[in-house]
Amino acid sequence: AVFDNSDVASLAVAEEIAELIKSKQAANEPCVLGLATGSSPINVYEELVRMHEEEGLSFKNVITFNLDEYYPMAKDNTQSYWYFMHDHLFNHVDILPENINIPDGELKPEEVHQFCIDYELKIKEAGGLDFQLLGIGRTGHIGFNEPGSHFNSGTRNITLDHITRIDAATAFLGIEHVPRVAITMGIGTIRKAKRIVLLAWGINKASVIKETIEGEITSEVPATYLQTHNNVTFVLDEGASSDL
Ligand code: GLP
Repeated sequence: AVFDNSDVASLAVAEEIAELIKSKQAANEPCVLGLATGSSPINVYEELVRMHEEEGLSFKNVITFNLDEYYPMAKDNTQSYWYFMHDHLFNHVDILPENINIPDGELKPEEVHQFCIDYELKIKEAGGLDFQLLGIGRTGHIGFNEPGSHFNSGTRNITLDHITRIDAATAFLGIEHVPRVAITMGIGTIRKAKRIVLLAWGINKASVIKETIEGEITSEVPATYLQTHNNVTFVLDEGASSDL
């Protein structure tokens, strides 16, 4: 779906999420959301906060699983995805703290493996992801599934691509401060979601969007694996769709 600009597109995505939350509420069921960080979803979260404040949209039945986190990373570090999610969404809505799941950047190295296994189990026990929101990196990564990621990969730690670290350098005030590793849901984890919406804004994303949608399916551009999902929408603005 191509929209005139990212504001109207973000509103449409927020409305879809709100409708899902409400339909699950009506059925007395939890709503399990997979959430993303980065600049792309910020306006979606802003709209959801507005719907909570102005329209009484409740998050009491919402369970969230975030895609990824840098490793190592302290939660109170302003660069952490933990901080980002609380700052943009969780601090402003009525979600129960015990329903928030984010890969833990504060684990000891020997704890990471078990954490990843438990993360997968927790998603399964919650009933699976009803909806997964995604951004996309210039390397074609979704979450932090860098080129080379396997089709069926699960939650695990991964070495960040050099291009990804360059893109994060400004936020970290220098590439030397960008972590080398992250914990991320896998391609397999993402592909099990019942519904996937990928957001991309601006001309900088045009070439990777073209590869993702029109290119051959390859682990060199992990987002191409989304082509095999039966309920995915690429939500784009004019810029991101300009090479299609
Ligand atoms: C990071 C995140 C991704 C995100 C990507 C693009 O690498 N781990 O989940 O999609 O950045 O970020 P942005 O939305 O700021 O372009």
